Amino acid sequence: MERTRVISEAQLQAQKDICRQIGAYWQEKGVTPLAFVDTYGCQQNEADSERIRGMLRDCGYEMTDTEEGADVIVLNTCAIREHAEQRVFGNVGALVHTKRRHEGQKIFLCGCMMGQDHVAKKIKSSYTHVDGVFNPHQLWRFPELLQSVLKTGKRVFAVEDEPGNIAEGIPVVRQNDLKAWVSIMYGCNNFCSYCIVPYVRGRERSRQPEDIIREVKELIAQGYRDITLLGQNVNSYGRDLGLGIDFADLIGTLAELEGDFWLRFMTSHPKDATKKLFDTMASHDKIAKQFHLPFQSGNDRVLKEMNRRYTSAQYLELVDYGRAVMPGLILTSDVIVGFPGETEEEFEDTIKLIERVRYDALFTFIYSPRRGTPAAEMPDPTPKADKNRRFDKLVATQNRISEEIHRDYIGKTVKVLVDGREGEVLTSRTEGGRLVRFPGEDSLIGQFVEVTITDCTTWSLVGTIK
Ligand code: SAH
Ligand code: SF4
Ligand code: F3S
Repeated sequence: MERTRVISEAQLQAQKDICRQIGAYWQEKGVTPLAFVDTYGCQQNEADSERIRGMLRDCGYEMTDTEEGADVIVLNTCAIREHAEQRVFGNVGALVHTKRRHEGQKIFLCGCMMGQDHVAKKIKSSYTHVDGVFNPHQLWRFPELLQSVLKTGKRVFAVEDEPGNIAEGIPVVRQNDLKAWVSIMYGCNNFCSYCIVPYVRGRERSRQPEDIIREVKELIAQGYRDITLLGQNVNSYGRDLGLGIDFADLIGTLAELEGDFWLRFMTSHPKDATKKLFDTMASHDKIAKQFHLPFQSGNDRVLKEMNRRYTSAQYLELVDYGRAVMPGLILTSDVIVGFPGETEEEFEDTIKLIERVRYDALFTFIYSPRRGTPAAEMPDPTPKADKNRRFDKLVATQNRISEEIHRDYIGKTVKVLVDGREGEVLTSRTEGGRLVRFPGEDSLIGQFVEVTITDCTTWSLVGTIK
């Protein structure tokens, strides 16, 4: 089996030294360089972008929120569906003009799309204004790649497919003062037949528990109140470490840390979600009573073809257990319609499952073939129009359920974390992530308060402080 590569302190120190040299390069020019970092895709990518910003800050760059006039542009890309890729290609194409207006502008592409050979090749041959490309395995070397481009003006392609690595101590610039992402593991071993992630992010590897505990402690001390533990399948955390520590143990330990905060996690694969995890959640107030548990399809034949390794009955048993130990548990999920060969009846099983579970929110996707995955080779006779119709039905079903659940909040008192102000009112989020607006003082921002819900709009709740 491939071994996880641990990037050594010396290797990371060498990158930090390069950051200092880049800082000196700009200082000599008497310029404060600007950097624009744009992120596509999931929270893992958001977390990676925070590291890219950290490295850029150490190189002397200030962040800007537009491509125009930026000295370096980094697009952190996503490969999960064709639509995501098309957006990236469109935006990269448009950068030809932006670059012409700003001499010396350097453009880098990274993230999951760059983990696919054919994409890196296409960038190399057809998008010659792109200066640098690196895949997720090479992220820790970004300072070295940037320096090479600045020094030589030559393009760099760091796209070697290596065993996955772990690099501790990359600087981070976080996007929010209250909410933080903490990756606890990287990669995925599941190979769901439709999914590109295992091919572009490598095999599953867990960070050492003490490194995670240290990071979470620091975040709490810095005033972070909402901390999300990230992994493609957090339930298999620790399996590769051989320490006898599983995800439930890890989150249980973190929930005992001093301070006022919510802990969340995503994502959980149903085949590995354990009753022990639900029990741990139930017994700790600091673990938000929210569970994102993707089911993908309500039909057992489709689930098998997807290589998900659970049945709808096993899935429902988990949901029932979670709700039994945590009444009011907020459940969210991902679902795919139009998987190759999915029939109308099989799709109806998905609708039935949604009606049975009544999710708080659902992330709905139309199947998108990904080159190199087994599902992309499966016969797919269903016309696009049928898939679209199924998708619309799915969305309408969930919208109705969401609205019903939304209305049920009226009259209830809920704990919220106040995160900002919008004109006359404060904005806040419930434990399950719903937006609640209510009148109050700025001093409440960053605090947990109890709010009684008095009204609702389609997307948010309205309340008064208790
Ligand atoms: N690791 C997570 C999710 C990763 S991707 C998990 O296993 O749940 C997020 C979601 O994108 C998936 O849950 C799935 O619903 C969707 N997805 C992944 N590949 C897809 C594809 N090829 N077409 C359409 N949706 C896809
Ligand atoms: Fe993709 Fe499945 Fe891994 Fe999630 S668990 S990242 S859907 S292969
Ligand atoms: Fe996209 Fe990569 Fe996340 S493919 S969904 S950014 S792991």
